[in-house]
Amino acid sequence: MSTEEREKQNSSERQTRRAVSDRRVEGVTQPIAPAVEAARQVELTINGQAVEAWEGMTLLQAAQSVGISIPTLCHHKELSTYGACRLCSVEVIRGRRSRIVASCIYPVEDGIEVLTESEKVAKHRKIILELIQARWPWVDKELLEKYGAQPGRFEEKTDFCILCGLCVRYCTEVKKANCLGFVGRGAERQIVIYPERAIEMCPTCEGGNMGCRSVCPTGTMPNEFAHTGPRFGKKLPLAYPVKSYSEDNVREVLHTVGDWRMPWVRSQTMPGK
Ligand code: SF4
Ligand code: SF4
Ligand code: FES
Repeated sequence: MSTEEREKQNSSERQTRRAVSDRRVEGVTQPIAPAVEAARQVELTINGQAVEAWEGMTLLQAAQSVGISIPTLCHHKELSTYGACRLCSVEVIRGRRSRIVASCIYPVEDGIEVLTESEKVAKHRKIILELIQARWPWVDKELLEKYGAQPGRFEEKTDFCILCGLCVRYCTEVKKANCLGFVGRGAERQIVIYPERAIEMCPTCEGGNMGCRSVCPTGTMPNEFAHTGPRFGKKLPLAYPVKSYSEDNVREVLHTVGDWRMPWVRSQTMPGK
């Protein structure tokens, strides 16, 4: 090998070593960024209408993008999806298979047919509304009538909280305060506040206006700790149930916060409004 060729080979080896060492920081090889894939377009039909959506969208978003409205309860576009209430259920048909899914969490798929107001959907929503009404007596009358929901079918438990979880997600995701959570399962499930954290975080939350109250569709969030701090007594419990103690309390909260949140659930004829 000539001197010139040897010099060329050495130089090439040096460059290779530098390229490898440039991708190492303190002995750690840096990962190579994966190729970014462009979102794929998806074609489906909703109530017989051809709809184009992007992969990753939910059925609810696809329907809303073409002006089809679906009632929702636990969904809030600024918060993570939760998929608990099932009021947004729709029927998805692929070939001869049909099933009911929650549109706020179900992703769009190529070639599916979606029905937002089929007979199956109506039956499903009727039961959901009856369950909600057992906890929250002021569900919109028009909505109840539309789906033939009959009050009193389920045992009443009017603590006014419909377990939508909006307050919990708001406190965790927006305020990063983690003062609220769920405990229990089934009929025992409830929202609790953790006094140790609440005492520290709530009195100053949004200037004393309690951010979670602005997303609670039923006015259940008690308002007493907005200005004075939670009144839990001297010995703090680990968790304290969040519930309104009377209709007056609910009315007061709703008057304070306003009436713009959940038109599906909020009654236009709520007493005192
Ligand atoms: S008032 Fe308290 S519980 Fe409600 S969002 Fe603010 S910090 Fe969380
Ligand atoms: S307190 Fe209000 S926001 Fe929280 S889960 Fe109950 S109804 Fe929903
Ligand atoms: S709005 Fe979809 S499950 Fe509640």
